[in-house]
Amino acid sequence: MASCLKVVGITVGVVALAGLIAGLVTWGVLASRDPVEDPPELRELDWWEHTVIYQIYPRSFMDSDGDGIGDLKGITSKLEHFVDAGIGAIWMSPIFTSPMVDFGYDISNFYDIHYEYGTMEDFENLLARAHELGIKVLLDYVPNHASDQADYFVLSRNRTEGYEDFFIWADPRPNPDDPANPQVPSNWISQFGGSAWEWDEVRQQYYLHQFAVEQVDFNFRSPAVRQEMLNIMDFWLEKGVDGFRLDALPFLMEANPVDHEGLYPHNPPSGNAFLEPHQLGYTTEIYTKDLLELYDVIYDWRDHVEEWMSGRDTTTKVLLGEGYTDIINTMLYYGNERDRIGCHFPFNFDFITSLSAESNARDFVYVILQWFTYMPQGKVPNWVFGNHDNNRMPTRFRDNMVDGLNSLNMILPGVAVTYQGEEIGMRDGYVSWEDTVDVNALNRGDNETYMLYSRDPARTPYHWNDSTNAGFSTAERTWLPIAEDYAEINLAVQKEATRSHFKVYQALTALRRTSKTLSHGEYALRALSANTLVLVRYLRTHDTIALLFNVSDGPDTVDLSAAPNLQGPLTVYTSSVESTRDVGDEIPLGEITLSAGEALVMSGPPA
Ligand code: NOJ
Ligand code: MG
Repeated sequence: MASCLKVVGITVGVVALAGLIAGLVTWGVLASRDPVEDPPELRELDWWEHTVIYQIYPRSFMDSDGDGIGDLKGITSKLEHFVDAGIGAIWMSPIFTSPMVDFGYDISNFYDIHYEYGTMEDFENLLARAHELGIKVLLDYVPNHASDQADYFVLSRNRTEGYEDFFIWADPRPNPDDPANPQVPSNWISQFGGSAWEWDEVRQQYYLHQFAVEQVDFNFRSPAVRQEMLNIMDFWLEKGVDGFRLDALPFLMEANPVDHEGLYPHNPPSGNAFLEPHQLGYTTEIYTKDLLELYDVIYDWRDHVEEWMSGRDTTTKVLLGEGYTDIINTMLYYGNERDRIGCHFPFNFDFITSLSAESNARDFVYVILQWFTYMPQGKVPNWVFGNHDNNRMPTRFRDNMVDGLNSLNMILPGVAVTYQGEEIGMRDGYVSWEDTVDVNALNRGDNETYMLYSRDPARTPYHWNDSTNAGFSTAERTWLPIAEDYAEINLAVQKEATRSHFKVYQALTALRRTSKTLSHGEYALRALSANTLVLVRYLRTHDTIALLFNVSDGPDTVDLSAAPNLQGPLTVYTSSVESTRDVGDEIPLGEITLSAGEALVMSGPPA
């Protein structure tokens, strides 16, 4: 029997030893036990609770057939990289049949592999090999919309029985002032700019698309759609995938005209005087985003996955939610705290949306603690530093912060998420207007402004080595250009170097695999000055682990003796590449001066 003990945000299970009082044991009671006695065993964590998850952007990871586009065989050929890097699971952006308007987020067949990426057999081989290597594989699940090329849409626009209301169809909005000139159903704006409504000549109605015109929004009020979503999930679960990243969740549902006198209600103006009515942000999306009804859909998915698992001899299948929204709405993805559970976790995008090169140590502490403060008890936190939708981590922060940020990711409690390239500190690539392919940039920008919107710079191919195309492809031309800095920043160079981002990353993931302090311990986080933060992880008889990180771009002196729960002497376990401190160096618990961006991970005696 395992009893559960919740320690500030993470759950520490304690297997009751013979004779140990059953039921909940408080931390205080445990701590007061004789320390020389064998401490009670720590609960064995489920595979996902403290793993490192790596996001692969398949189009840009590895090209096996020389067409300039990454593919599944390419990924399979590089799976050892994850073993080497200490990764526990990969999640892949969509690999399904797609016209590639939004590079796979516009799926035309949810049950098959996109031809440029390979075949179903290639996928099965990838999965089998990954599992052989002990790596879990998660797929991207895109429930909000289908490609306008999907059979579902063809059937729906033709009003085929059973598919009539698979999507959100609407008649033109009557225009009392000018009856001959009806309007679009509402003022809703697509995430990629312009009206979210598109006229369909075949059906003679508008359909809704919260993203590109070619990404048609499913109608989640239709039981048939809800069922089809479960069928898709089952199909891939049966194939053996370990879970899903759930795409664009805040947009799953929109206001129902039934509640608004038969019309789709207009979103109210946001008051932003710099924007025009067709631009995203001109209105506040109260009727199109974060609707409370959508959470029940997600809770149902979780129930479904749990049901699928029960009665089967299987490892846990996980659901990871994607949604950019405020902290309250984000936390609802975990569950409603009454009777329903949701995702295993919603991605924590705070390092992307709330912190940057401008942030000081107090901002870091504030933002990190916010997650712990709002997270429901007993849930698992997670940390995301970048993805295919945002500028890369070193570009948003600074090059000299790469190791410190990767250290934070690995030393904080919970799951660490890495976007491909972060382990070697890849920066954004330069993509000219002529080479730009991202629909968001093409729709919303022009040759002057596209950089504000383009996601291409974060999607340029991975840098394996300093050969042609950074070792990514033998093609003359790759689908996006290779970033110019590949000769300097690449995996092969970093594996050779005595100090490199990759070496630091490896050391950190190795520590995570063995340190009970990191998997089960408490945390204390504090700004020692405006520039330097300290994160201390501690667990009774186990070594304490501390991260000291100067997030500023200048030197900073702090007093380490002010760090909570920390005792000397401290020994450097790993240090940022430009640090003058080396593995094994002793750090006294007193004043210390750190250079710009310097980060030290140190171990010390139990707190
Ligand atoms: C979120 C995905 O990460 C992004 O790339 C995509 O454009 C939208 N969802 C729409 O699917
Ligand atoms: Mg290829």
